[in-house]
Amino acid sequence: MIGAGYVGLTSAAILADLGNTVWAVRKDIETIEIIKRGEAPFYEPGLAEIIKRNIEAGRLIPTIEYKEAVPPAEVVFICVGTPSLPNGEADLSQVFAAAEEIAQNLNGYKVIVDKSTVPVGTAEKVKEIIRKNLPENISFDMASCPEFLREGQAISDMLNPDRVVIGAETERAKSLLLKLHEPLSGERVVTDIKTAELIKYASNAFLATKISFINEVARLCETVEADVEDVARGMGLDKRIGRSFLKAGVGWGGSCFPKDTRALCFIANDSGHTFPLLKAVIEVNNEQRRRFVQKLKAAIGPLQDKIITVLGLAFKANTDDVRESASLEIIKLLLSEGAKIQAFDPMAGKNAQMALKEVSGVVFCQDAMSACQDAHAVAILTEWEEFKNLDWPVVKKVLKQPIVVDGRNLLDPESIRAKGFLYFSIGRP
Ligand code: UDX
Repeated sequence: MIGAGYVGLTSAAILADLGNTVWAVRKDIETIEIIKRGEAPFYEPGLAEIIKRNIEAGRLIPTIEYKEAVPPAEVVFICVGTPSLPNGEADLSQVFAAAEEIAQNLNGYKVIVDKSTVPVGTAEKVKEIIRKNLPENISFDMASCPEFLREGQAISDMLNPDRVVIGAETERAKSLLLKLHEPLSGERVVTDIKTAELIKYASNAFLATKISFINEVARLCETVEADVEDVARGMGLDKRIGRSFLKAGVGWGGSCFPKDTRALCFIANDSGHTFPLLKAVIEVNNEQRRRFVQKLKAAIGPLQDKIITVLGLAFKANTDDVRESASLEIIKLLLSEGAKIQAFDPMAGKNAQMALKEVSGVVFCQDAMSACQDAHAVAILTEWEEFKNLDWPVVKKVLKQPIVVDGRNLLDPESIRAKGFLYFSIGRP
């Protein structure tokens, strides 16, 4: 497994737990030392235990060396980052660098699989790079196995996927990958490589579309005084629509949706199709952040010198990941209007502090209650269960004014209002 980030390390640990010997490669000695100690270098529920037992059993072998990891393997997964370039295109430099080093260490037939989310046609380019860098004439097959796991529930998503997508060119590669994935549940979609590559982008873009759609409906609910939670339930019970990814809020963030929607727009543009629908999905998402700030202003007036409590910094609950988090984007908008921020997140405080190190005006607090001290309003921006269960009567005492603007529709409007709060949420009367 080349790459030991959220997807790479989770996949490596689970494949090891299923009885395979897995080398996890990352050129960062500090991260490798953490994994060697049987720990997880980031927060993902349940992952550290799986890493620990497989390190102890010798099935999971972390290393910085391709020359240790590649020769004994039958399957080599490329699972490195594909961040956005400034123009929205996926930056494939880490994928191509991995391909070069895999080639230099190839000692016999292997299947080389793209697990990173990569634009259609990337496997062909990787194949070319490997061919050029092979020390001798060794045969290999390329394949694509996109991963659909969600942070925060990565273990169960990987063990119980709805589908396993295998894009491959030869029967040999297909059967090796089918065998490797045998213990996992879910339907098999065996197809060509380009189709597999597109399945991943299309899936993420569609899920982002569902969220932007319900956020647009939420805006409408606010003008006609309807309740978006009931609209979503009423829609979602139709099996053709489905309940999931219809939660209105401050919009989608994270390490995948933002970069993958941008990359799919770029791929479409590049092939002469502008994909207007996807562009609108992205714009609705950007607007959702600005609307939250408007909502807060409507509740408390101009933000200059106001203290705002931000509850939640992670891009969603149950992760410490703050990449493209709506919360951080909203914090920047609030600061630009002169507000002061007191922020708390149960897991993501450290990462947020690092991400905002250039920014002044944010105090990172050790708990929710200190973040609420003397504030003019509370903004809920990540749906941590812990915030639902706060001692709200005590929160009310420490606040300057009892105002809550809930960007995740986390609280029950009736019960929080009964506690004496002025409460605003997304798309609910
Ligand atoms: C996503 C995909 O779900 C996963 O299949 C893919 O492999 C990687 O990208 P992830 O980024 O971990 O997973 O998080 P996800 O649970 O999909 O949430 C993405 C964003 O959408 C979060 O910011 C979340 O808060 C937001 N969201 C999700 C909503 O606003 N409403 C919803 O109904 C669902």
